[in-house]
Amino acid sequence: MFTGVLTRYKEFLPITEDTPIFTLGEGDTPLVRSKNLWKQIGHSELYFKLEGCNPTGSFKDRGMVMAVAKALEERSSTIVCASTGNTSASAAAYGAYCGLKTIVLVPKTGVATGKLTQALAYGARVLAIDGNFDQALKLVRSLADVQPITLVNSINPNRLQGQKTAAFEIVDNLGDAPDYLFIPVGNAGNITAYWMGFREYKKIGRAARSPHMMGFQAEGAAPIVRGEIVASPETVASALRIGNPASWKGALAARDESGGVIDAVSDKEILEAYKLLAQFEGIFCEPASAASLAGLLKLSRQGMPFEDKRIVCVITGTGLKDPEIATRFFDLPIQGLPSDLSTIQKAVANA
Ligand code: F0G
Repeated sequence: MFTGVLTRYKEFLPITEDTPIFTLGEGDTPLVRSKNLWKQIGHSELYFKLEGCNPTGSFKDRGMVMAVAKALEERSSTIVCASTGNTSASAAAYGAYCGLKTIVLVPKTGVATGKLTQALAYGARVLAIDGNFDQALKLVRSLADVQPITLVNSINPNRLQGQKTAAFEIVDNLGDAPDYLFIPVGNAGNITAYWMGFREYKKIGRAARSPHMMGFQAEGAAPIVRGEIVASPETVASALRIGNPASWKGALAARDESGGVIDAVSDKEILEAYKLLAQFEGIFCEPASAASLAGLLKLSRQGMPFEDKRIVCVITGTGLKDPEIATRFFDLPIQGLPSDLSTIQKAVANA
């Protein structure tokens, strides 16, 4: 029976007698075995963790359910976040479910239409600022300092607590941790949360090992790789347009403690992986999510051996969030035809 992450992983979460337990259906997402691409990647045992199957279409829901439950426990009536889109959609949904006022700050340009539409549909107040994500985050941090509002960005530790449950699920599904976990890195909360989850499971013996954490930033928004803040982050993967990640240190710790890497992939590599996932695996994700596979392809092409290695690529959000990008980068045109059988037969023969 489906229970949601708060019930399923209660003993690992900061849940007290006073924490309300509820679910919008987050967690328990599919871990799908690669049908085709594994052959290109050194005949590895490759899986995709489909976080786009969460209720608002991204991994954010795992952390949001925990953060909102704690906000209710603390009798907060308003939640606020800065976002490149997905956090705002998730906050708005959980805020609506719990009767909280939700305020989201997003960059005025570049947020995917689907994400903005979600936030509006769930009834959030959407404030579009003349600035990027980093500036929006700075503003909401200051706001939460002076007003009785709960900040639900991943600097709220409850968010990472909820998000670590994805690592638990992978181990519960596979029977142990994989050899490698490939994951996109933006604000760096998710890589930090996964690493926490893997470490906790290993500590109590539910996993015999922990994976190498392989984080990938977009080249134009790669502050951790470059070792310096990026003032104007730019990438086709709008969710990753972040120049000063809040969990920077967490990402470095995940990398160093796990013997992993934090590297960058170009927009070209991201879009290539985005197409491969759709056309060879039947997985339509958003560009940011494809950074995990793009990273794996890059290392594989550089000669890193993956034969027989168990690898999980985290696919963080659904492609339906960003239809404009899809229509721009998928090249098969829609063919307009008269409603006539012989014309259709010809078109089918030529397809
Ligand atoms: N993938 C997607 C689809 C995202 O939306 C994000 C971040 C990431 C990856 C990166 O995860 O920040 O934990 O390193 N989106 C945030 C947002 C910043 O506002 O929705 P991260």
